[in-house]
Amino acid sequence: MRRAIVAGNWKMHGSRTENARLIEELLAHCPAQPAATCVVCPPFVYLQETGRMLRGSVLSLGGQDVCADAQGAFTGEVSAAMLKDVGCEYVIVGHSERRLLYRESDQLVARKFGAAHAKGLVPILCVGEQLADRDAGRTHEVVARQLDVVLELCGAGALERGVVAYEPVWAIGTGRNATPEQAQDAHEFIRARIGARDARIAAATRILYGGSVKAGNATELFAMPDVDGGLIGGASLKADEFLTILAAAGPG
Ligand code: PGA
Repeated sequence: MRRAIVAGNWKMHGSRTENARLIEELLAHCPAQPAATCVVCPPFVYLQETGRMLRGSVLSLGGQDVCADAQGAFTGEVSAAMLKDVGCEYVIVGHSERRLLYRESDQLVARKFGAAHAKGLVPILCVGEQLADRDAGRTHEVVARQLDVVLELCGAGALERGVVAYEPVWAIGTGRNATPEQAQDAHEFIRARIGARDARIAAATRILYGGSVKAGNATELFAMPDVDGGLIGGASLKADEFLTILAAAGPG
């Protein structure tokens, strides 16, 4: 049985004061034993302080990005070892904002996945098509390309601990989520693609849905058989909404 994950991607939001308030509220109202794994991913500069607040709690810490290289002259970059050092267990790689706004290629994303995996972090690999791709019927093709580069470079074995997040770009921050059926179709495809290389790993890989997940639509999305939780942007900044989404990812 796959344990669901609900991860909050704070993106470039927050301040020390706002973060403290959000974490306090989350810790005050989070169940002692949530049915799903819960992760928060603050901006780099707040990781250490957020990690300190989360210590001993059921909430885990994740980064939003990682450098593909281990160390050296890479101004502005943050390595997987550094993320581990400040208490991260997870890291998002290949978010569509990184791919589109900062021109991260499939190859670079795959190297980031490998770097995170090598240091014992759980990489959350984001894949997903743009609206034009979906309209042209190319959703599977795009997702397969993004996934295959990682499978080629890192091997299916790297997904043993890894997580995939299917995030259709047209659904991110738009308030227009994929329907549960659209999500299930893509998730089933992703699992089969991994399964073509290793059926056991495919059955165990957590595949999260991301893109306008809210308290009001989480239950129906998470009810789909291949949807194992969610990667949450906007709604992860509101404690009550995020906790409702977390509860929706429970078993059943
Ligand atoms: P959203 O973002 O929930 O605000 O649509 C999701 C994401 O970008 O991971």
